[in-house]
Amino acid sequence: MSRRPLIAGNWKMNCLKAEGVALAEGIAAKLRAQAPAADLLVCPPATVVDSVARAVAGSRLAVGGQDCHADKSGAHTGDIAAPMLKDLGASYVIVGHSERRADHGESDAVVRAKATAAHAAGLIAIICIGETEVERDGGRTLEVVGGQFEGSLPNGATPDNTVIAYEPVWAIGTGRTPTTPEVAEVHGAIRALAAKRLGTAGSARLRILYGGSMKPSNAKELLALEDVDGGLIGGASLKVDDFWAIAQSC
Ligand code: PGA
Repeated sequence: MSRRPLIAGNWKMNCLKAEGVALAEGIAAKLRAQAPAADLLVCPPATVVDSVARAVAGSRLAVGGQDCHADKSGAHTGDIAAPMLKDLGASYVIVGHSERRADHGESDAVVRAKATAAHAAGLIAIICIGETEVERDGGRTLEVVGGQFEGSLPNGATPDNTVIAYEPVWAIGTGRTPTTPEVAEVHGAIRALAAKRLGTAGSARLRILYGGSMKPSNAKELLALEDVDGGLIGGASLKVDDFWAIAQSC
């Protein structure tokens, strides 16, 4: 299978400019010395995307945003459009993270519109989906994740412009993770659904990341699963050594 893993750092609402630049430069320096068997991406807060992109320009470290608006411009105070991220040097954007779905009431339709906007701007959309603890305990994981996948994936999605991140909400920032068979089951189900939308060959090329308390101590086991094509990493992406150790696990 020719899917190159993607190790993506989601910095969330962390890092002032100097910290962000230092963190990104630290990762870029490691990348200059050694190439891991994965693509590496950092998604800083919007305020720092420009500084980070400048700092790592010419390196193999990609830069992304954490969210974008569905419109390309207009009267949306405080929002950031996909072309603005592209303009700063971003090549990816996360859409539909569970924190945005919860904090900002983003529905699948909104996430889908954001992913469409990302594609129109030439960005790769990382579309996040995942069940809550109540939904898992109720045996509804595949139904919920499947519904989010169907509802959030735009028609123009391809394996080149889209990455899926499966992030169980209850595993984010908690130190808890599903068992590897549980992760394998969900990733396999997402790939089967993707085959219906993208065709078998398209689905076989689609990168499906796992996110939620991925760290150096559990990365190898998770990344070894056949349908896990990388990670979306929050807390452990804020330390160069931890992020690098996860990348080395690919
Ligand atoms: P975490 O966050 O690695 O801190 O659990 C992952 C995410 O929210 O993308």
